[in-house]
Amino acid sequence: MEEKIRCGFAGAGFAARFHYESLKALAALGIEPVGVFSKREESRQKFAAERGMKAYSSLEELLEAVDVIHVCVPPALHQWVAVEALKRDVHVIVEKPFTGFFGPPEAIDFRGNEFPKQRMREEALRNASGMLEAEKKSPARIFYAENWVFAPVIQKEVEIIEKTKAQILWIIAEESHSGSHSPTYGIWKHSGGGSIMGKGTHPLTTVLYLKRIEGMARQGKPLRPKTVTARTHELTRLPAFQDKGYLRTGYTDVEDYGLMHVVFENGTVADIFSTEIVMGGVHNWLEVLANNHRTRCNINPMDGLETYNPEEEQFKDIYVVEKIGTRQGWSKPAPDENWMNGYVQELSYFYRCIREGKEPFSSSQLGYDTVSVIYSAYLSAEKGGAEVDVP
Ligand SMILES: NC(=O)c1ccc[n+]([C@@H]2O[C@H](COP(=O)([O-])OP(=O)(O)OC[C@H]3O[C@@H](n4cnc5c(N)ncnc54)[C@H](O)[C@@H]3O)[C@@H](O)[C@H]2O)c1
Repeated sequence: MEEKIRCGFAGAGFAARFHYESLKALAALGIEPVGVFSKREESRQKFAAERGMKAYSSLEELLEAVDVIHVCVPPALHQWVAVEALKRDVHVIVEKPFTGFFGPPEAIDFRGNEFPKQRMREEALRNASGMLEAEKKSPARIFYAENWVFAPVIQKEVEIIEKTKAQILWIIAEESHSGSHSPTYGIWKHSGGGSIMGKGTHPLTTVLYLKRIEGMARQGKPLRPKTVTARTHELTRLPAFQDKGYLRTGYTDVEDYGLMHVVFENGTVADIFSTEIVMGGVHNWLEVLANNHRTRCNINPMDGLETYNPEEEQFKDIYVVEKIGTRQGWSKPAPDENWMNGYVQELSYFYRCIREGKEPFSSSQLGYDTVSVIYSAYLSAEKGGAEVDVP
Protein backbone atom coordinates (compact mmCIF):
# COMPACT_ATOMS: atom_id res chain seq x y z
CA MET A 1 0.00 0.00 0.00
CA GLU A 2 1.39 3.40 -1.00
CA GLU A 3 1.68 6.08 1.66
CA LYS A 4 -1.40 8.22 2.13
CA ILE A 5 -1.39 11.78 0.77
CA ARG A 6 -2.42 14.00 3.70
CA CYS A 7 -4.52 16.99 2.79
CA GLY A 8 -5.94 20.02 4.58
CA PHE A 9 -8.50 22.70 3.86
CA ALA A 10 -7.99 26.46 4.17
CA GLY A 11 -11.59 27.63 4.49
CA ALA A 12 -14.64 25.79 5.79
CA GLY A 13 -17.35 27.24 3.58
CA PHE A 14 -19.14 26.32 0.36
CA ALA A 15 -16.06 25.42 -1.72
CA ALA A 16 -14.40 23.45 1.09
CA ARG A 17 -17.56 21.36 1.37
CA PHE A 18 -17.70 20.42 -2.30
CA HIS A 19 -13.93 19.73 -2.36
CA TYR A 20 -14.38 17.34 0.56
CA GLU A 21 -17.47 15.69 -1.00
CA SER A 22 -15.64 15.22 -4.31
CA LEU A 23 -12.66 13.59 -2.55
CA LYS A 24 -15.02 10.94 -1.17
CA ALA A 25 -15.34 9.55 -4.71
CA LEU A 26 -11.54 9.11 -4.91
CA ALA A 27 -10.86 6.49 -2.24
CA ALA A 28 -8.53 4.54 -4.57
CA LEU A 29 -6.07 7.46 -4.62
CA GLY A 30 -5.22 7.11 -0.91
CA ILE A 31 -6.05 10.64 0.20
CA GLU A 32 -6.31 11.36 3.92
CA PRO A 33 -8.14 14.57 4.93
CA VAL A 34 -6.31 15.70 8.07
CA GLY A 35 -7.56 19.11 9.11
CA VAL A 36 -9.07 22.48 8.44
CA PHE A 37 -8.12 26.08 9.16
CA SER A 38 -10.58 28.95 8.90
CA LYS A 39 -11.30 32.25 10.57
CA ARG A 40 -14.30 31.45 12.74
CA GLU A 41 -13.67 28.91 15.46
CA GLU A 42 -17.24 27.67 15.55
CA SER A 43 -17.43 26.89 11.84
CA ARG A 44 -14.01 25.23 11.62
CA GLN A 45 -14.81 23.07 14.67
CA LYS A 46 -18.11 22.04 13.10
CA PHE A 47 -16.52 21.35 9.68
CA ALA A 48 -13.80 19.24 11.34
CA ALA A 49 -16.08 17.35 13.72
CA GLU A 50 -18.53 16.39 10.96
CA ARG A 51 -15.70 14.96 8.88
CA GLY A 52 -13.47 13.38 11.53
CA MET A 53 -10.69 15.93 11.09
CA LYS A 54 -8.76 18.30 13.35
CA ALA A 55 -9.57 22.03 13.48
CA TYR A 56 -6.47 24.25 13.37
CA SER A 57 -6.44 27.85 14.59
CA SER A 58 -3.28 28.63 12.62
CA LEU A 59 -2.57 28.09 8.92
CA GLU A 60 1.10 27.42 9.67
CA GLU A 61 0.28 24.52 12.01
CA LEU A 62 -2.05 22.94 9.48
CA LEU A 63 0.58 23.25 6.75
CA GLU A 64 3.10 21.38 8.94
CA ALA A 65 0.66 18.44 9.06
CA VAL A 66 -0.21 18.03 5.36
CA ASP A 67 1.18 17.31 1.88
CA VAL A 68 -1.56 19.20 0.00
CA ILE A 69 -3.64 22.25 0.90
CA HIS A 70 -7.00 23.01 -0.71
CA VAL A 71 -7.28 26.81 -0.94
CA CYS A 72 -10.98 27.50 -0.31
CA VAL A 73 -10.75 30.92 1.36
CA PRO A 74 -11.89 34.18 -0.29
CA PRO A 75 -9.78 35.25 -3.31
CA ALA A 76 -7.90 37.97 -1.37
CA LEU A 77 -6.25 35.21 0.70
CA HIS A 78 -5.27 32.81 -2.09
CA GLN A 79 -1.78 34.24 -2.54
CA TRP A 80 -1.01 34.22 1.19
CA VAL A 81 -2.07 30.59 1.66
CA ALA A 82 -0.32 29.45 -1.54
CA VAL A 83 2.99 31.13 -0.71
CA GLU A 84 3.00 29.87 2.90
CA ALA A 85 2.30 26.35 1.62
CA LEU A 86 4.99 26.41 -1.07
CA LYS A 87 7.57 27.63 1.50
CA ARG A 88 6.92 24.31 3.27
CA ASP A 89 6.85 22.29 0.01
CA VAL A 90 3.14 21.64 0.38
CA HIS A 91 1.22 21.25 -2.92
CA VAL A 92 -1.45 23.89 -3.55
CA ILE A 93 -4.88 23.25 -5.08
CA VAL A 94 -6.13 26.79 -5.48
CA GLU A 95 -9.73 27.70 -6.23
CA LYS A 96 -10.69 30.24 -8.87
CA PRO A 97 -10.05 33.12 -9.32
CA PHE A 98 -6.30 32.49 -9.11
CA THR A 99 -5.55 35.83 -7.43
CA GLY A 100 -6.09 39.51 -8.20
CA PHE A 101 -6.02 43.00 -6.70
CA PHE A 102 -7.75 43.70 -3.40
CA GLY A 103 -6.76 47.27 -2.60
CA PRO A 104 -3.54 48.96 -1.55
CA PRO A 105 -2.40 48.14 1.99
CA GLU A 106 -2.60 51.82 2.97
CA ALA A 107 -6.20 52.39 1.81
CA ILE A 108 -8.99 52.64 4.38
CA ASP A 109 -11.83 53.59 2.06
CA PHE A 110 -10.85 51.52 -1.00
CA ARG A 111 -13.56 51.22 -3.66
CA GLY A 112 -12.52 48.89 -6.46
CA ASN A 113 -14.84 50.33 -9.09
CA GLU A 114 -13.23 53.77 -8.65
CA PHE A 115 -9.58 52.69 -8.33
CA PRO A 116 -7.27 53.36 -11.35
CA LYS A 117 -7.23 50.18 -13.41
CA GLN A 118 -3.75 50.50 -14.90
CA ARG A 119 -2.25 50.31 -11.41
CA MET A 120 -4.74 47.61 -10.48
CA ARG A 121 -3.57 45.42 -13.37
CA GLU A 122 0.11 45.92 -12.44
CA GLU A 123 -0.56 44.95 -8.82
CA ALA A 124 -2.75 41.96 -9.76
CA LEU A 125 -0.04 40.62 -12.06
CA ARG A 126 2.56 41.22 -9.33
CA ASN A 127 0.45 39.12 -6.96
CA ALA A 128 0.09 36.37 -9.56
CA SER A 129 3.84 36.46 -10.27
CA GLY A 130 4.46 36.16 -6.51
CA MET A 131 2.69 32.81 -6.57
CA LEU A 132 4.60 31.60 -9.64
CA GLU A 133 7.92 32.63 -8.08
CA ALA A 134 7.15 30.77 -4.84
CA GLU A 135 6.29 27.72 -6.95
CA LYS A 136 9.61 27.91 -8.82
CA LYS A 137 11.51 27.74 -5.51
CA SER A 138 9.66 24.62 -4.34
CA PRO A 139 9.37 21.03 -5.54
CA ALA A 140 5.65 21.34 -4.78
CA ARG A 141 3.23 22.47 -7.48
CA ILE A 142 0.27 24.82 -7.88
CA PHE A 143 -2.83 23.15 -9.33
CA TYR A 144 -5.33 25.70 -10.61
CA ALA A 145 -8.80 24.44 -9.70
CA GLU A 146 -10.80 25.74 -12.65
CA ASN A 147 -13.44 23.02 -12.66
CA TRP A 148 -14.97 24.01 -16.04
CA VAL A 149 -11.94 22.65 -17.93
CA PHE A 150 -12.59 19.25 -16.34
CA ALA A 151 -16.35 19.19 -16.96
CA PRO A 152 -17.22 16.16 -19.13
CA VAL A 153 -18.94 18.32 -21.78
CA ILE A 154 -15.79 20.45 -22.17
CA GLN A 155 -13.51 17.40 -22.29
CA LYS A 156 -15.66 15.90 -25.07
CA GLU A 157 -15.23 19.10 -27.07
CA VAL A 158 -11.46 18.89 -26.46
CA GLU A 159 -11.50 15.46 -28.13
CA ILE A 160 -13.41 16.87 -31.14
CA ILE A 161 -10.99 19.81 -31.52
CA GLU A 162 -7.91 17.61 -31.21
CA LYS A 163 -9.05 14.79 -33.51
CA THR A 164 -10.56 16.99 -36.25
CA LYS A 165 -7.89 19.72 -36.03
CA ALA A 166 -10.73 22.23 -35.93
CA GLN A 167 -10.12 25.93 -36.38
CA ILE A 168 -12.24 27.78 -33.82
CA LEU A 169 -13.50 31.07 -35.22
CA TRP A 170 -15.73 32.21 -32.37
CA ILE A 171 -16.54 31.06 -28.85
CA ILE A 172 -19.51 32.43 -26.92
CA ALA A 173 -19.72 31.55 -23.23
CA GLU A 174 -21.47 32.62 -20.09
CA GLU A 175 -21.55 32.05 -16.35
CA SER A 176 -24.45 33.85 -14.72
CA HIS A 177 -26.58 33.41 -11.63
CA SER A 178 -27.60 35.50 -8.69
CA GLY A 179 -24.73 36.35 -6.33
CA SER A 180 -22.85 33.71 -4.37
CA HIS A 181 -23.23 31.70 -1.18
CA SER A 182 -20.30 33.64 0.31
CA PRO A 183 -20.77 36.76 2.48
CA THR A 184 -17.51 38.23 1.10
CA TYR A 185 -18.63 37.99 -2.54
CA GLY A 186 -19.24 41.33 -4.23
CA ILE A 187 -16.86 43.34 -2.03
CA TRP A 188 -13.77 44.17 -4.08
CA LYS A 189 -11.29 44.03 -1.17
CA HIS A 190 -12.24 40.36 -0.62
CA SER A 191 -13.24 39.20 -4.09
CA GLY A 192 -10.97 41.27 -6.38
CA GLY A 193 -13.85 42.38 -8.62
CA GLY A 194 -17.45 41.59 -9.51
CA SER A 195 -19.09 39.42 -12.14
CA ILE A 196 -16.07 39.31 -14.46
CA MET A 197 -13.79 38.16 -11.65
CA GLY A 198 -16.17 35.90 -9.72
CA LYS A 199 -18.09 34.32 -12.59
CA GLY A 200 -16.52 35.31 -15.93
CA THR A 201 -13.27 33.70 -14.78
CA HIS A 202 -14.79 30.21 -15.39
CA PRO A 203 -15.70 30.62 -19.07
CA LEU A 204 -12.66 32.84 -19.70
CA THR A 205 -10.18 30.25 -18.41
CA THR A 206 -11.98 27.61 -20.46
CA VAL A 207 -11.75 29.75 -23.61
CA LEU A 208 -8.00 30.24 -23.00
CA TYR A 209 -7.63 26.49 -22.47
CA LEU A 210 -9.57 25.54 -25.64
CA LYS A 211 -7.52 27.98 -27.72
CA ARG A 212 -4.40 26.39 -26.25
CA ILE A 213 -5.70 22.94 -27.27
CA GLU A 214 -6.57 24.21 -30.76
CA GLY A 215 -3.15 25.81 -31.23
CA MET A 216 -1.29 22.73 -30.03
CA ALA A 217 -3.36 20.42 -32.29
CA ARG A 218 -2.83 22.43 -35.48
CA GLN A 219 0.48 24.23 -35.09
CA GLY A 220 2.22 22.75 -32.06
CA LYS A 221 1.93 25.92 -29.96
CA PRO A 222 -0.87 27.54 -27.95
CA LEU A 223 -2.97 30.37 -29.42
CA ARG A 224 -2.56 33.32 -27.07
CA PRO A 225 -5.00 36.16 -26.31
CA LYS A 226 -3.90 39.45 -27.89
CA THR A 227 -6.46 42.09 -26.92
CA VAL A 228 -9.64 42.50 -24.89
CA THR A 229 -12.56 44.92 -25.12
CA ALA A 230 -14.89 44.99 -22.12
CA ARG A 231 -17.91 46.69 -20.62
CA THR A 232 -19.10 46.49 -17.02
CA HIS A 233 -22.37 47.77 -15.53
CA GLU A 234 -23.88 48.07 -12.05
CA LEU A 235 -27.47 47.27 -12.97
CA THR A 236 -28.86 46.61 -9.49
CA ARG A 237 -27.44 49.93 -8.29
CA LEU A 238 -28.97 52.01 -11.08
CA PRO A 239 -31.27 54.72 -9.70
CA ALA A 240 -33.86 53.36 -12.15
CA PHE A 241 -33.64 49.75 -10.87
CA GLN A 242 -36.93 48.55 -9.40
CA ASP A 243 -36.18 45.90 -6.80
CA LYS A 244 -38.93 43.27 -6.55
CA GLY A 245 -36.88 41.21 -4.11
CA TYR A 246 -36.05 38.28 -6.40
CA LEU A 247 -32.43 39.18 -7.18
CA ARG A 248 -29.55 39.47 -4.74
CA THR A 249 -28.55 43.12 -4.40
CA GLY A 250 -26.22 44.99 -2.05
CA TYR A 251 -23.03 44.73 -4.13
CA THR A 252 -20.86 47.50 -2.77
CA ASP A 253 -18.19 48.47 -5.29
CA VAL A 254 -18.32 45.84 -8.05
CA GLU A 255 -20.09 45.30 -11.35
CA ASP A 256 -23.05 42.93 -11.62
CA TYR A 257 -22.77 42.66 -15.42
CA GLY A 258 -19.63 42.10 -17.48
CA LEU A 259 -18.91 41.48 -21.16
CA MET A 260 -15.45 40.59 -22.50
CA HIS A 261 -14.59 40.39 -26.20
CA VAL A 262 -11.21 38.66 -26.56
CA VAL A 263 -9.20 38.68 -29.80
CA PHE A 264 -6.53 36.00 -30.24
CA GLU A 265 -3.19 36.38 -32.03
CA ASN A 266 -4.62 34.89 -35.27
CA GLY A 267 -7.60 37.30 -35.25
CA THR A 268 -10.22 34.78 -34.03
CA VAL A 269 -12.54 35.86 -31.21
CA ALA A 270 -14.46 34.96 -28.07
CA ASP A 271 -17.35 36.71 -26.28
CA ILE A 272 -17.86 36.06 -22.59
CA PHE A 273 -20.80 37.20 -20.48
CA SER A 274 -21.05 37.09 -16.71
CA THR A 275 -23.87 38.56 -14.66
CA GLU A 276 -25.63 38.43 -11.30
CA ILE A 277 -29.10 39.11 -12.70
CA VAL A 278 -30.09 35.71 -14.11
CA MET A 279 -32.92 33.98 -12.24
CA GLY A 280 -33.93 30.34 -12.44
CA GLY A 281 -30.69 28.72 -11.35
CA VAL A 282 -27.16 28.63 -12.65
CA HIS A 283 -26.71 29.48 -16.36
CA ASN A 284 -23.33 28.09 -17.42
CA TRP A 285 -22.69 27.25 -21.07
CA LEU A 286 -20.12 27.56 -23.84
CA GLU A 287 -20.55 27.34 -27.58
CA VAL A 288 -17.77 26.66 -30.08
CA LEU A 289 -18.24 27.80 -33.68
CA ALA A 290 -15.47 26.27 -35.75
CA ASN A 291 -14.66 25.87 -39.44
CA ASN A 292 -15.80 22.23 -39.34
CA HIS A 293 -18.33 21.87 -36.49
CA ARG A 294 -20.42 23.67 -33.92
CA THR A 295 -20.77 22.45 -30.32
CA ARG A 296 -22.92 23.64 -27.48
CA CYS A 297 -21.56 22.62 -24.05
CA ASN A 298 -24.31 22.88 -21.41
CA ILE A 299 -22.70 22.74 -17.99
CA ASN A 300 -25.71 23.86 -15.98
CA PRO A 301 -28.59 23.28 -16.50
CA MET A 302 -28.26 19.85 -18.09
CA ASP A 303 -31.35 18.27 -19.57
CA GLY A 304 -30.62 14.59 -18.90
CA LEU A 305 -33.44 14.70 -16.35
CA GLU A 306 -36.56 16.86 -16.60
CA THR A 307 -39.11 16.71 -13.80
CA TYR A 308 -42.51 18.25 -13.30
CA ASN A 309 -43.47 18.71 -9.63
CA PRO A 310 -46.97 20.13 -9.04
CA GLU A 311 -46.39 20.85 -5.32
CA GLU A 312 -43.31 22.58 -3.76
CA GLU A 313 -43.73 20.68 -0.47
CA GLN A 314 -43.21 17.24 -2.10
CA PHE A 315 -39.60 18.05 -3.00
CA LYS A 316 -38.65 19.65 0.33
CA ASP A 317 -36.00 16.98 1.07
CA ILE A 318 -34.78 16.65 -2.52
CA TYR A 319 -31.73 18.52 -3.78
CA VAL A 320 -32.66 19.68 -7.28
CA VAL A 321 -29.90 21.88 -8.70
CA GLU A 322 -27.75 24.81 -7.51
CA LYS A 323 -29.56 28.12 -6.93
CA ILE A 324 -32.93 27.10 -8.34
CA GLY A 325 -35.50 29.54 -6.92
CA THR A 326 -38.39 27.07 -6.65
CA ARG A 327 -38.82 23.29 -6.72
CA GLN A 328 -42.34 23.58 -8.08
CA GLY A 329 -43.16 23.19 -11.79
CA TRP A 330 -40.68 21.97 -14.40
CA SER A 331 -37.02 21.65 -13.37
CA LYS A 332 -33.85 19.96 -14.61
CA PRO A 333 -32.51 18.20 -11.51
CA ALA A 334 -28.77 17.49 -11.52
CA PRO A 335 -28.19 13.74 -11.02
CA ASP A 336 -24.59 14.39 -9.87
CA GLU A 337 -23.60 18.05 -9.79
CA ASN A 338 -20.05 17.51 -8.52
CA TRP A 339 -19.41 15.21 -11.50
CA MET A 340 -21.07 17.38 -14.17
CA ASN A 341 -19.27 20.49 -12.84
CA GLY A 342 -15.95 18.66 -13.18
CA TYR A 343 -15.02 18.86 -9.47
CA VAL A 344 -14.41 15.13 -9.09
CA GLN A 345 -12.40 14.78 -12.32
CA GLU A 346 -10.37 17.90 -11.39
CA LEU A 347 -9.29 16.55 -7.99
CA SER A 348 -8.74 13.06 -9.37
CA TYR A 349 -6.41 14.52 -12.03
CA PHE A 350 -4.53 16.72 -9.52
CA TYR A 351 -3.89 13.87 -7.07
CA ARG A 352 -2.75 11.61 -9.93
CA CYS A 353 -0.28 14.33 -10.98
CA ILE A 354 0.97 14.48 -7.37
CA ARG A 355 1.35 10.68 -7.16
CA GLU A 356 3.13 10.51 -10.52
CA GLY A 357 5.14 13.76 -10.22
CA LYS A 358 3.52 15.15 -13.39
CA GLU A 359 3.07 18.81 -14.36
CA PRO A 360 -0.64 19.74 -14.55
CA PHE A 361 -2.16 21.37 -17.63
CA SER A 362 -4.46 23.38 -15.33
CA SER A 363 -1.42 25.11 -13.94
CA SER A 364 -0.31 28.36 -12.33
CA GLN A 365 0.39 29.68 -15.87
CA LEU A 366 -3.26 29.18 -16.84
CA GLY A 367 -4.22 31.04 -13.64
CA TYR A 368 -1.77 33.84 -14.44
CA ASP A 369 -3.12 34.21 -18.00
CA THR A 370 -6.65 34.48 -16.65
CA VAL A 371 -5.64 37.26 -14.24
CA SER A 372 -3.93 39.07 -17.11
CA VAL A 373 -7.08 39.06 -19.30
CA ILE A 374 -9.45 39.89 -16.42
CA TYR A 375 -7.57 42.99 -15.27
CA SER A 376 -6.98 44.08 -18.88
CA ALA A 377 -10.77 43.81 -19.24
CA TYR A 378 -11.24 46.11 -16.23
CA LEU A 379 -8.79 48.55 -17.84
CA SER A 380 -10.79 48.43 -21.09
CA ALA A 381 -14.07 48.97 -19.22
CA GLU A 382 -12.55 52.02 -17.50
CA LYS A 383 -11.80 53.40 -20.99
CA GLY A 384 -15.44 52.88 -22.03
CA GLY A 385 -14.71 49.68 -23.96
CA ALA A 386 -11.48 50.64 -25.78
CA GLU A 387 -9.38 47.74 -27.08
CA VAL A 388 -6.55 46.94 -24.65
CA ASP A 389 -3.49 44.73 -25.23
CA VAL A 390 -3.22 41.69 -22.96
CA PRO A 391 0.28 41.52 -21.45
N1 LIG B 1 -15.19 26.43 -8.50
C1 LIG B 1 -16.37 26.82 -8.08
O1 LIG B 1 -17.40 26.46 -8.66
C2 LIG B 1 -16.46 27.69 -6.86
C3 LIG B 1 -17.69 27.87 -6.23
C4 LIG B 1 -17.74 28.67 -5.10
C5 LIG B 1 -16.59 29.27 -4.60
N2 LIG B 1 -15.41 29.09 -5.25
C6 LIG B 1 -14.18 29.74 -4.75
O2 LIG B 1 -13.85 29.18 -3.49
C7 LIG B 1 -13.30 30.18 -2.63
C8 LIG B 1 -14.13 30.22 -1.35
O3 LIG B 1 -15.46 30.58 -1.67
P1 LIG B 1 -16.70 30.06 -0.79
O4 LIG B 1 -17.92 30.26 -1.62
O5 LIG B 1 -16.40 28.74 -0.20
O6 LIG B 1 -16.69 31.16 0.37
P2 LIG B 1 -17.28 30.98 1.85
O7 LIG B 1 -17.49 32.37 2.35
O8 LIG B 1 -18.43 30.03 1.84
O9 LIG B 1 -16.09 30.30 2.64
C9 LIG B 1 -14.88 30.96 2.87
C10 LIG B 1 -14.16 30.34 4.05
O10 LIG B 1 -12.96 31.09 4.27
C11 LIG B 1 -12.88 31.45 5.65
N3 LIG B 1 -12.14 32.72 5.82
C12 LIG B 1 -12.53 33.97 5.46
N4 LIG B 1 -11.60 34.87 5.85
C13 LIG B 1 -10.61 34.17 6.46
C14 LIG B 1 -9.38 34.54 7.06
N5 LIG B 1 -8.98 35.82 7.14
N6 LIG B 1 -8.61 33.56 7.58
C15 LIG B 1 -9.01 32.26 7.53
N7 LIG B 1 -10.17 31.86 6.96
C16 LIG B 1 -10.96 32.80 6.42
C17 LIG B 1 -14.31 31.60 6.08
O11 LIG B 1 -14.40 31.50 7.51
C18 LIG B 1 -14.97 30.42 5.36
O12 LIG B 1 -14.79 29.23 6.08
C19 LIG B 1 -13.33 31.48 -3.41
O13 LIG B 1 -12.07 31.68 -3.99
C20 LIG B 1 -14.36 31.24 -4.50
O14 LIG B 1 -14.12 31.98 -5.67
C21 LIG B 1 -15.33 28.28 -6.36
